[in-house]
Amino acid sequence: MRAVVMHETGGPEVLRLEEVARPEPGEGEVLIAVRAAAVNPIDWKYRRGFMPKQLPAVLGNDVSGVVAVSRADGFAKGDEVFGIAASGGYAEFATVPARMLAKKHAGLSHVQAAAIPVAGMTAWQALFDRGGLESGQTALIAGAAGGVGHLAVQFAKRAGARVIGTGSARNRDFVLGLGADEYVDYTQQDVAEAVSGVDVAFDTVGGETTQSLLGTMREGGVLVGIAGAPPEDEARERGVRAELLIMSPSTEQLAQIGALVAGGDVHVEIAETVPLEEVGRAHTLSESGRTRGKIILTVGT
Ligand SMILES: NC(=O)c1ccc[n+]([C@@H]2O[C@H](COP(=O)([O-])OP(=O)(O)OC[C@H]3O[C@@H](n4cnc5c(N)ncnc54)[C@H](OP(=O)(O)O)[C@@H]3O)[C@@H](O)[C@H]2O)c1
Repeated sequence: MRAVVMHETGGPEVLRLEEVARPEPGEGEVLIAVRAAAVNPIDWKYRRGFMPKQLPAVLGNDVSGVVAVSRADGFAKGDEVFGIAASGGYAEFATVPARMLAKKHAGLSHVQAAAIPVAGMTAWQALFDRGGLESGQTALIAGAAGGVGHLAVQFAKRAGARVIGTGSARNRDFVLGLGADEYVDYTQQDVAEAVSGVDVAFDTVGGETTQSLLGTMREGGVLVGIAGAPPEDEARERGVRAELLIMSPSTEQLAQIGALVAGGDVHVEIAETVPLEEVGRAHTLSESGRTRGKIILTVGT
C-alpha cells in the first residue's frame, strides 16, 4: 500500500509517499481502507521533533473508511467506520482498535467523519467530563475557530451555556455564526479586561493565553487546557481549578458526536481537503496556526 512515511524530523519535505507493507490487524482490531484522514497539530509537532516519536513513522490519528478485515466483535467487512488509527492514518490502509472505533452514520461523509475523533472528543471531555459545564453557566473558549474550538463552541451552546469565543477579527462572524453569544478579538483586547465571571474556560491555545484566561474566571471556576499544562499553583491562589486534559478515546462519545453531526445539529467546518499526495501542503497550513475548522487528507478516491 502507499503511505506517508516520516524517516526523520524536519520540515514538511520529510513526509514522503512510499510503498510499504499493509499493517496487520491484531485481535480486537479492524483493518480499514482509509478514505479520509485528519491532520492535527500534534502531527506537525511530531514532525518537528517537539514530541518524541519512534521513526520511521506513519503519522495521523483520525481516520474514516471501510472495513477490509475485521478481527473485532461488532464490525464486519464493508462497514463504514471512523475512529483513531493505531498504525497511522496517512495511508491507504490503517488498523484501528475497536475501542477507538464507531460505525459511520449514513448522513456523515468520510471527510466529515475523519474531522471528528480527536477534536470532537477533546472538546467534549474538556467541557463536560473535566469542566462539568452546566446549563446557564458561562463558558469561555479560547481558539474558538480552530479544529477543537469550533466544536466546543457548539457543544457548549447546545448544553445551554452562555458562550464567549476568542479569535482574531477574520473569525468573528464564523464563531458568532456557530452560536457564540460574544466574541473577543485577542489581537485588539486582552480577554481578561473584556470578560469576567467565567465558570468554565477551555484553553486550546496555551502560553500567554492561559495567563489571561485566569483573569476572567469566577472563584470556584475550572480552567481546562489542552495545549500545555496550566499554572496550577497560580490558579489555586485565585480559587480556580486548572487542569491539563489528555484526551482518552470513548466509543460512546464518538458515536454521540457522529450522530450530532450527521443530524445537522453540529457543524464540522472543513478548512480544506487535500489529497494524500499533497500532505506537505496540509502540514504547512496546519502549522500556520490559522486553521478554521479541520484540514482533511483524502485517500484513494
Ligand atoms: N491534549 C489533548 O488531548 C489535545 C487534543 C487535541 C488538540 N490538542 C492541542 O490543542 C491545540 C489546538 O488544537 P486545534 O486542532 O484546535 O488547533 P488549530 O485548529 O490549529 O487551531 C487554530 C486556531 O487557533 C486560533 N488561535 C491561534 N492563536 C490564538 C490566540 N492567541 N487566541 C485565540 N485563538 C487563537 C486561530 O484563530 P485566529 O486565526 O483567529 O487567530 C485558529 O482558528 C493544539 O496545540 C493541539 O496540539 C491537544
